[in-house]
Amino acid sequence: MTYLGIDLGTSGLRALLVDDAGNVLGAAERHYDVTHPASGWSEQDPSDWIKALHNAMAELRDTHPAFADLKGIGVAGHMHGATLLDAAGDVLRPCILWNDTRSHVEAAILDGTEGVRELSGNIVFPGFTAPKLEWVRAHEPDIYDKVAKVLLPAAYLNLYLTGDYVADMSDSAGTSWLDVGQRDWSKPLLDASHMHGHQMPRLVEGSDKAGELRTDLSKAWGLKSTVVVAGGAGDNAAAACGIGALNEGQGFVSLGTSGVLLAARDGYRPAPETAVHTFCHAVPGRWYQMGVMLSATDSLNWLAGITGKSPQTLSEALGRKLRPPSTVRFLPYLSGERTPHNDAEIRGSLTGLGTSTTTQDLTQAVLEGVAFGLRDSFEALKATDVKLERLTAIGGGAASDYWLELIATVLNVPLDLPSGSEFGAALGAARLGQLAATDAAPEDVITAPQIDRTISPNTAMTSDFAAAYQAFRASYGPIKKVQ
Ligand code: XUL
Repeated sequence: MTYLGIDLGTSGLRALLVDDAGNVLGAAERHYDVTHPASGWSEQDPSDWIKALHNAMAELRDTHPAFADLKGIGVAGHMHGATLLDAAGDVLRPCILWNDTRSHVEAAILDGTEGVRELSGNIVFPGFTAPKLEWVRAHEPDIYDKVAKVLLPAAYLNLYLTGDYVADMSDSAGTSWLDVGQRDWSKPLLDASHMHGHQMPRLVEGSDKAGELRTDLSKAWGLKSTVVVAGGAGDNAAAACGIGALNEGQGFVSLGTSGVLLAARDGYRPAPETAVHTFCHAVPGRWYQMGVMLSATDSLNWLAGITGKSPQTLSEALGRKLRPPSTVRFLPYLSGERTPHNDAEIRGSLTGLGTSTTTQDLTQAVLEGVAFGLRDSFEALKATDVKLERLTAIGGGAASDYWLELIATVLNVPLDLPSGSEFGAALGAARLGQLAATDAAPEDVITAPQIDRTISPNTAMTSDFAAAYQAFRASYGPIKKVQ
């Protein structure tokens, strides 16, 4: 039997085929665009996801005979996006994404509404789903009036695959409509943003069955028997499943478009005042907490764009040996920031420039600014009593050893690098597909990967970087918006 994990990411869709033992049999990937119709806006056309899905499936069907033995599918998606559907199930407008901050005014109003933080367990960040609907209500009333269902990106794919409106707990926790402690839609939260229960999909746990693959798709993809589709997960919960992070003390640092520091929790202990996110995990009875920065690899991509060099060329030019903290300082707030600021309008800066500043100095400053931003998330997590003595490093940015040693030094924890290349959200999603299609227990499937190597903090430089972090921290002054 085989299982498929689909990671519906911000920049593309990755489909991963695994066997019963979790061995990777094959993968296919397709890219699509994000559009920015105005500053701070970020949208995607859901039909691009479907095209990417079909192309990836065709590739797997044509190149991997074991694809025909598919038994279970799990979908992981970029979180918080609002896919608005009318009564016929047709998409009403482009999906408004997680890193779109247009609804910061609506978010602040909801966040200040009595009971909202208490029930949702989180700050209402502008990227979350509820304020997006409030924005549509105010600015696109014709569309708003037709909204029959709101689906997160992964739930939209679930709908396409099964024909049913069904979402998982981990992703739904990022809407500000879910009572995250009770794992159910909350009437008071829905009321607070003028939404109704009938506009929400049915809820299942990520590792439970959401439905079965439509027979027309099964036929078109050449599959031999009935395929179960799991509830799936938000991409961070799925990535946690990919590295086996279910228990206290387990977590990861992810260097993707967003930078995430995640810790698995065995109970529900919300702490919105720290600006960490507290969400349901993708398996029953578990939660996780994370600090999120909006521009991690995006910061390096920005520098790459303006220097005309690739991110890889920029980071390789620093060499292998960690340099002492730069005198140039970069604040990584190119798209606003979530943890620790909750500030959609805060922007980045480069200071300490001189006539001798080189491109290498700028690269170093950018990598350090992101590392310090992650340290802010680490401090916020520590305030919730999370104890992380080591972290697994994942995401595209983890290809740079320089960046990893820098982050290990700034956080003062070792970073483990799994062997092989598949341990992210797609693998986690495939594992959820397997759990939903079989009677396997979560702890037997969601296991930790083999560690290939560990990058330790550079002890000769930890105190220099601790001082540099304090200077970074002082440069933005007191955190204004969270309380
Ligand atoms: C998490 C978040 C991002 C997206 C990116 O709250 O918004 O990490 O899930 O894929």
